[in-house]
Amino acid sequence: MLIEDIVELKTGFTFDDVYLVPKRSSIKSRRNVDTTTSLTKNIALSTPIVSANMDTVTEGTMSVTMAREGGIGIIHRFLPVEEQVSEVIKVKRIESVIIENPYTLPQNKTLKEAKEFMEAKGVKGILVTENGKLLGILTGRDTMFEDNLDRKISDLMTPRKQLVVGKPGLSIEEAKKILRENRVEKLPIVDKNWKLRGLITSKDIKNRSLYPHSTKDPKGRLMVGAAIGVRGDYIKRAEALLKAGVDVLVLDIAHGHSDNAINALRSVKKEFGDVDVIAGNVATREGVEDLASAGADAVKVGVGSGSICITRIVTGCGVPQLSAIFDCSEAGKELNVPIIADGGIRTSGDITKALAAGASTVMIGSLLGGTEESPGFTVIRNGAKYKITRGMASLGASMGRAERDKKSEEDLREAVPEGVEGIVPYRGYAREVLYQLVGGLRSGMSYCGATTLKELREKAEFEKITSASQKEGLPHDITLIK
Ligand code: XMP
Repeated sequence: MLIEDIVELKTGFTFDDVYLVPKRSSIKSRRNVDTTTSLTKNIALSTPIVSANMDTVTEGTMSVTMAREGGIGIIHRFLPVEEQVSEVIKVKRIESVIIENPYTLPQNKTLKEAKEFMEAKGVKGILVTENGKLLGILTGRDTMFEDNLDRKISDLMTPRKQLVVGKPGLSIEEAKKILRENRVEKLPIVDKNWKLRGLITSKDIKNRSLYPHSTKDPKGRLMVGAAIGVRGDYIKRAEALLKAGVDVLVLDIAHGHSDNAINALRSVKKEFGDVDVIAGNVATREGVEDLASAGADAVKVGVGSGSICITRIVTGCGVPQLSAIFDCSEAGKELNVPIIADGGIRTSGDITKALAAGASTVMIGSLLGGTEESPGFTVIRNGAKYKITRGMASLGASMGRAERDKKSEEDLREAVPEGVEGIVPYRGYAREVLYQLVGGLRSGMSYCGATTLKELREKAEFEKITSASQKEGLPHDITLIK
């Protein structure tokens, strides 16, 4: 590179370098804007927010909230395959029109074993079967005053002759009527030979109206994604996750514009043609083009933009996030591949800017890491509650992995961390955080005169700002109470 080239270098921008210029708007209320978007070529979301595949952010519990609120969670991959699979199953089982394979126990188990089983699976009742045929049901009502934990299920369960059951093919409306008329909460579905075909619960039916915008698969189950790596057991992991019902895979690699990532993407698409795969991370138009031509169904954009990232300090590499979103989205639009803006989102204003710049969704880490649903530990500092969050390339995360994979201290000494660990304020339930984030986005769309995200992208006019204008945009000349 010559000195003249340095003078000609292009400037990179990020969220704090710009504001969106307000436009005439005929929108009467922010409720009237539509935030529907595409996560991938084949998956639509009503809320353009994805929770990050980080071990302090997304496992099953977070994914349930994300999907109920119209977004989606991506379960991180730093778990043994069977544990990651069981987090996926947790989400897929929590709500469905009909639970196809309800948990069952044989009648010779004790009450103690039944209680332990129900606790482990997070259910309040259990169907009792023999050779696939329904014998009865054991619920809290059957065991309420029972102290003898050694009693057999067969002595305590409500036997099938006293049960209300439904036939296969029953509609939700019919099921609702039966549950209501008989004042029961669980409706086993059996064929004429008492073979168990499924279970419908009043809780699932109630949840359908509580979360009208939730992200669901064609069977009415919440949708969830899961991350895989690009080396080692990644194909086996993908296979196990798909068997568990995962809806989308994320190829998780820091430098997604690499032969490793491209080859892995090709292998996954070749092996499992039908599943949508999100690939990344990249920060340039060429990165999007290469991943798109290898079969990516969406591309994740962001190198060094995350709150816990030190990639730019350690390696000197990265692209300011808003510029990366602009460039990548242009390519994404031409190639019909949605872009996920990953990292650096601190406020709802950042979300509006990322989507206005062309992203279809945003991926959020630490901001959701402070919520009840994240798997991070809670700590108290000076009387205030915090949660631990960490970069997946931090030393702490590497140590955890080394312990799991029984690696030596020697291996760890070779680590060059590109992430940090820290604490974030405890923020309550993710649903409340999401409400604020989406509310801010809706207002932002209304300021831009946009009723849809497509319109937001078309109408958006960015203005470059100075540090003085940025200061003006913050609370000033008052002492903040909160
Ligand atoms: P936020 O800002 O939402 O960013 O917390 C989340 C995103 O950060 C990325 N990530 C990392 N990047 N080193 C990095 O350079 C790391 O250790 C690291 N861990 C996570 C990731 O893309 C995530 O979604």
